[in-house]
This record gives sequence, C-alpha cells and structure tokens, in this order.
Amino acid sequence: IPENFRQMVEAHELLRKFYHHLLMNTDEGQHALEYLTNRGFSKESIEKFQIGYALPSWEFASNLLQKRGFALEQMEKAGLVIKRERDGTYFDRFRNRIMFPISDHQGNTIAFSGRALEDEEPKYLNSPETPIFNKSKILYNFHLARPIIRKHQNVVLFEGFADVIAADRAGVENGVATMGTSLTSEHISTLKKNAQTVTVCYDADKAGIEAAQRAALMLDQAGCTVKVAQMPEGLDPDDYIRKYGEEKFKADVIGSSLTLMAFKLLYYRRGKNLQNEGDRLQYIEEVLIEISRLDKVVEKDFYIRQLANEFSLSLDALKQQVNQRGSSTP
Ligand code: UTP
Ligand code: MN
Ligand code: MN
Ligand code: MN
Ligand code: MN
Repeated sequence: IPENFRQMVEAHELLRKFYHHLLMNTDEGQHALEYLTNRGFSKESIEKFQIGYALPSWEFASNLLQKRGFALEQMEKAGLVIKRERDGTYFDRFRNRIMFPISDHQGNTIAFSGRALEDEEPKYLNSPETPIFNKSKILYNFHLARPIIRKHQNVVLFEGFADVIAADRAGVENGVATMGTSLTSEHISTLKKNAQTVTVCYDADKAGIEAAQRAALMLDQAGCTVKVAQMPEGLDPDDYIRKYGEEKFKADVIGSSLTLMAFKLLYYRRGKNLQNEGDRLQYIEEVLIEISRLDKVVEKDFYIRQLANEFSLSLDALKQQVNQRGSSTP
C-alpha cells in the first residue's frame, strides 16, 4: 500500500474516533444522540457501527488533521476537506451531520456518509470517489457481516445505512448495503464469492421496487440464487422494524422472501386489474414468456400448472405455447 494511501486511511480512522467521541460524550453531540435514540438506534448499534457526529464547524476536521501532521492538500484528495478558490485555505466537507463511517472489506475506515439532522439537502452527504474509496466496489457492512454471510451462505442486500443497522439489531447480521448506488458487477462478484443466496430487501417504494427488479435480474444472471423480500408499500426495512417489530421482520419479511419467479409474477400483477380481460391476457402472456425462459423442466411444469389453475386454462395449450416460445428463442 502506498504511503499516501496509508495516511488517508489514518486520517479517516482518527476522525472516526473523534466523531464518535463527540456524539457519545459531549454536550455538542447531545441533540445528535437524541435524534438517533428517537429513531430507535440502540447504544450497542451506535458502538458497533461507530456512528459519530460532525460539529457545525468549518474547521474542526481541518484543524485537527493539520495539528496531527496531515497535509491538507492530501486530505482534500481523501475527500475530507475542500479548498477555497479565493485564498487556497481549506474547510470541512462534513458539518453538523450524523457520521456513518464506511469501511473497506478489511475493516479500514475509508470514507464517510453524513446524514442531515433536519430536512437539508442532500439527506446523506458522501465522501467523493478517492484513491481509497471506490463506490462501485464497496458494500456497507461487508467487513462485519462476512463471517455470518459465509456461515449461512446467505446475504441480505439493503439500500441504506439505517436498514442494515436496524436489521442487525433485529438479529439479521448478514446484511450489507449498496448505499444508494446501483448494484455493480464488482458488488455482485463479492456477493457471489461469499454466499449461495442473495436476499434483496430494498425499499417498498417505486424506486426501490424498480431497483430490486434490476438487482434481482443481474444476480440471477450471475448465477446467484435470488430471493426478494416483500414489505407493505411505502415502507423501508428500518421503517418496518420500527412499526412492526424485530420478530415480524424476521418471519414475515426475511423469512418469507419470494423466489425470483414469484417476485416477477407479483411485479407483472402490479397496476393490472386481473378481472379485466385485456389485463388478464396480457398478464398470462408475460408469465408465459417468463416460464419459457426457465431452464429446469420441473420448474416450467410447476408454473404452467399454477397458471392453468389460476385462470382455468388448458394445460396442453399452455405447454404448447411455452414450447413454441422456447424453440423460437436463440
Ligand atoms: P433512502 O432515501 O432510502 O434513505 O436512500 P434511507 O436509507 O431510508 O435514509 P433515512 O432512513 O431517511 O435516514 C437509501 C440510501 O441511499 C443513499 C444512502 O446510502 C441511503 O442510506 N443516499 C440517499 C445518498 O447517498 N444520498 C442521499 O441524499 C440519499
Ligand atoms: Mn465508543
Ligand atoms: Mn430508498
Ligand atoms: Mn430508505
Ligand atoms: Mn429509511
């Protein structure tokens, strides 16, 4: 590891400890701690995830880093401070935010995401891409979750920090998050190397459902066994746990995750009225296309029978149509 990378990591480690201390032990951090407590973050979670607080100061980090002998020019490349055009001085990137340290897969702190306490934009301010932080490679919490992921051969994929931490508190400790970015092939290869099954547990809003569909297809393509968790419309996993509790989350969300096929069928049903003949025919057509894409004969048979039963269709007709499709696709 080059010396300058090592220094960038050291600066992140130093700030992680200070931000955490400010949150836990100071008057200035009191309202941030109250915010977290009100949101259901436990003391244990705050410790485990080393959550912190950045003061509403323009120079807390800049001064500290400089005093400790870090070159601010390099700290700018690390994403911690920003240079003023006018006089070449530096100011802190993260001010008055709840700080989530982001670790690389070995456990070194390499970036931060700072959440606003009020309704400011952006809600989460992230470190930029730096020589030590490559967003398309990093999964939040992978370092801590890896042993559990490997043991259970199952990884739960969330959108964000609060979801991973709430799930962890509920005993789902094999969770990681993409932190709002779309899933990359590098993320997928990390997941696949460590687990047979990936359970996608994204937010149940329009964006989350679309992203879950995309992630599920990519993971399936890569050869993972994919499950997709379902939640009531409008909630995310953290909301769900706070509303319905940890046990219900484990049983009714994680434990009742759908297979990819079941998720697709549900996806095609959305926005359709299956009492309506046109919608019904369109749905049947979409399902038949999905069935024809399945590799396993037994699975094809299973879903053809399910479709035949649900809509009182002839098995022979459905089989014929699936086989026609199957032979016409390259
Ligand atoms: P969400 O908008 O679903 O936020 O974005 P959230 O995780 O539910 O946040 P809370 O519960 O309101 O605190 C999901 C993830 O996308 C990234 C963050 O990693 C967030 O956890 N994100 C979101 C950003 O990076 N920047 C943003 O401004 C918003
Ligand atoms: Mn501590
Ligand atoms: Mn979301
Ligand atoms: Mn969310
Ligand atoms: Mn949320």
